[in-house]
Amino acid sequence: MNINKFVMPEVIFGNDAIHLVGESCFRLGAKRPLIVSDFGVSDVGWLEIVIQSCQKAGLHSAIYYDITTNPKDYEVEAGQKIYLEHECDSIIGVGGGSAIDTAKAIAIVVTNGGTIQDYEGVDEIDEPLPPLVMVATTAGSGSEVSQFSVIVDSTRKKKMTIVSKSLVPDIAIIDPQTLTTKSPQLTASTGLDVLTHAIEAYVSIASTALTDVQAKNAISLVANYLRPSVASSLNTEAKHHMAMASLQAGLAFSNAILGAVHAMSHAIGGRFPLLHGEVNSVLLPHVMEFNFLAVPKKFMTIAELCGENIRNMTEVEAGRKAIHFVKQLSLDIGVPQRLSDMGLDDEMIAEMSQIALDDACMITNPRDITVTDVQHLFKQAL
Ligand SMILES: [Fe+2]
Repeated sequence: MNINKFVMPEVIFGNDAIHLVGESCFRLGAKRPLIVSDFGVSDVGWLEIVIQSCQKAGLHSAIYYDITTNPKDYEVEAGQKIYLEHECDSIIGVGGGSAIDTAKAIAIVVTNGGTIQDYEGVDEIDEPLPPLVMVATTAGSGSEVSQFSVIVDSTRKKKMTIVSKSLVPDIAIIDPQTLTTKSPQLTASTGLDVLTHAIEAYVSIASTALTDVQAKNAISLVANYLRPSVASSLNTEAKHHMAMASLQAGLAFSNAILGAVHAMSHAIGGRFPLLHGEVNSVLLPHVMEFNFLAVPKKFMTIAELCGENIRNMTEVEAGRKAIHFVKQLSLDIGVPQRLSDMGLDDEMIAEMSQIALDDACMITNPRDITVTDVQHLFKQAL
């Protein structure tokens, strides 16, 4: 018998949802949350709203917002220290993937002990985590609903992928209004990360009927609304749809896992301080070309979801349309087109290729892949 599992948190979605964070945390029995965020979120005022919401709910919160892009093991340690010093009993993450992944990682070590390195891989967490409420302010990482946390091991210069159902937060709060304060560059790169999540989850060998419905809707929403969302910070309709796309892509990849794009981009992100979404957007068309052979029917559906007219086309012709659509979208929204534009060169290929091959996300890639294939893909993307 084929058994499918689908995990997700309670989801609170809509404008002003951010004001419900305090009462959401209170409902979980928490009294002293640690709020984990970053300077960017603080600068535009979202952190202050969360702090006030917690005060209103009678919570005594501690705050840690010294988080960088591609969060590091020592940032998890620093957060753990604050959690223990303030005798916290719960964690609220506010931000994009960096803040939320760090919040989850702190939750692991405060109840399970050791260092975050001890939990790299799949299902290594034994003890339950404290109550977790995550507020997503980018569309985005999907981390607010996922069973993933990705943290850089600063000694090995490697992104560690931690996968466990324990990491699915109790409550995810998604307020599309928070997207209006993002720069066009960040909107573009995080939006292409959403598309990568949706496409990788859809073609993953672990995809199911439950993940497909989420992934397909996310692809269609990104195809229709990423351009206008990048073009105008005030386009609330586009922000709403991109927030939903991010949520649905997050639900899809949390349960179907990802593929070669994320495996390769994790390998790069451990060593170079680059935007995760930009690296993914460069890699995505190349990996799609590679994977096309394994799942041509699904590529035909992707083309259709992107609004391409595929009538009277063969699977191969329609699939190529999907790849072309992704390339054109990334050109239109102005993200870098090559890894060399981002400062990478071919010296990194050998080392990065083996690291990518060993990443947990590579397991669900739809086409068998060797280290030579990964090297070839990196070379194409340079
Ligand atoms: Fe991602």
